Amino acid sequence: MTDSFPIRKVDHVRFFCGNAMHTAEWYRRLFGFDIQAYAGLETGMKDEANYLLTENDVRFLMSTPLLPDHPLAEQLGRHGDFVQDIAFEVDDVDLAFKTATSRGAKAFSGPRTLEDSFGKVRIAAIHTYGDVVHSLVNRDDFSGLFLPGFRPVDKKGDPVGIEFVDHCVGNVEWNGMNKWVDWYANILGFEQIQTFDDKDISTEYTALMSKVMQSGNGRVKFPINEPAEGRKRSQIEEYLIYHGGPGVQHVALHTSDIINTIKLLKSRGMEFLQVPRTYYDTLFERVGEIDEDLNDIADLGILVDRDEEGYLLQLFSKPVEDRPTLFYEFIERKGAKSFGKGNFKALFEAIEREQALRGTL
Ligand code: FE2
Repeated sequence: MTDSFPIRKVDHVRFFCGNAMHTAEWYRRLFGFDIQAYAGLETGMKDEANYLLTENDVRFLMSTPLLPDHPLAEQLGRHGDFVQDIAFEVDDVDLAFKTATSRGAKAFSGPRTLEDSFGKVRIAAIHTYGDVVHSLVNRDDFSGLFLPGFRPVDKKGDPVGIEFVDHCVGNVEWNGMNKWVDWYANILGFEQIQTFDDKDISTEYTALMSKVMQSGNGRVKFPINEPAEGRKRSQIEEYLIYHGGPGVQHVALHTSDIINTIKLLKSRGMEFLQVPRTYYDTLFERVGEIDEDLNDIADLGILVDRDEEGYLLQLFSKPVEDRPTLFYEFIERKGAKSFGKGNFKALFEAIEREQALRGTL
C-alpha cells in the first residue's frame, strides 16, 4: 500500500504559554531538557518569545506572545497554556499542504520560506481539532539550529531518559470522535488501529470512547477520545470544560528505562496518578513474567499491560497545569504496540479520585 500523505515523524510539539521563560525552565529542571535555542525580540522576532527544548528526539517549543494583539493571544486566555502545534516533518511541504487542503483541511498558514545564513526552511500549517494545528516542516536545506532566526542557548538539563514522542492524545467534542477519525483517515491517510468503547473504558461512574489513528509509516500515533454518558462527569468532559473545547490531553514520551525515568522525575517533584497497592497482587497472573523487579514497579506505582506482541510499562502524571487539562504519560514498550487497555479501569478510577478532590466529578 502506498502512503498517501508521507510524514517522516513528529518534528516538534509547540506549547503556547503565558511565560515561556518560566515554562522552559520548569521543563528543564523536571524533564531534564536542554534549552538549546531561543528566538525573541533580541533575535529580531517581533511578536513572540520561543525556547527550543530538546532531549534525544523529543523537541518541545515553548512560545509566548509578546503583544496583546498577537493572533493567538486570545486562545491562550481561553485555554490556558496549551499544545498549539504538533508539527510534522515532511519530504515536500508544498505538496503536503496542497494535498491536505485539496482533501478539505483548513489552511492555517500557506507555504513560506524562512531563511538565514544557515539556509532555508519551508513551512506551512493546517488546522485540526480545537485550536491545534499541524505545521508541515522541511529543513533539508538548512544546517542551523531548529529554524532560521534562532540563536543557540547553552542551558543543559540532566536527562531523565525520554527518547521520542510515542503518541499524542486528543480530546474532542461530544460525538466528535468519528468526525476526527475520518479527518485523519481522509486528509492525512492515517489508518485506524484500535477502538475502545464504553465497555472497555468505563468505571462505575464515567465513560469515554477512543479510537487510535496511525500515520502511513506507523511513526505517528494519535488516539482520539470523546466523552460518553456516565453517572458522573468523565475526565474528558472535565477537560473540555476547563480547556474551553477540544485539545491535546496528553503527550506520551518513550523511555528505555522507565524505572530510572520515574525515579528521577519523582525526585524532582513530578506528581503521578497512583493506583492502589492491590493492583500489584494479581499483576503476574495478568501480564506473566516481566524483566523488571516487581518491588521496583510497585514502589514507583508503574502500570504494566501485555498484548499479543509483548508488554509495556506506563505511568501517568497529574495535570502539569493549574487547570485539570494537559498531562504526560511515560511509556516503555517491550514489544507491545498497544496503549495499556488492561490498565484503563485502574487508571480511570485513579483519575476519578483526583476529580473528586477537585470537586469536578
Ligand atoms: Fe497514552
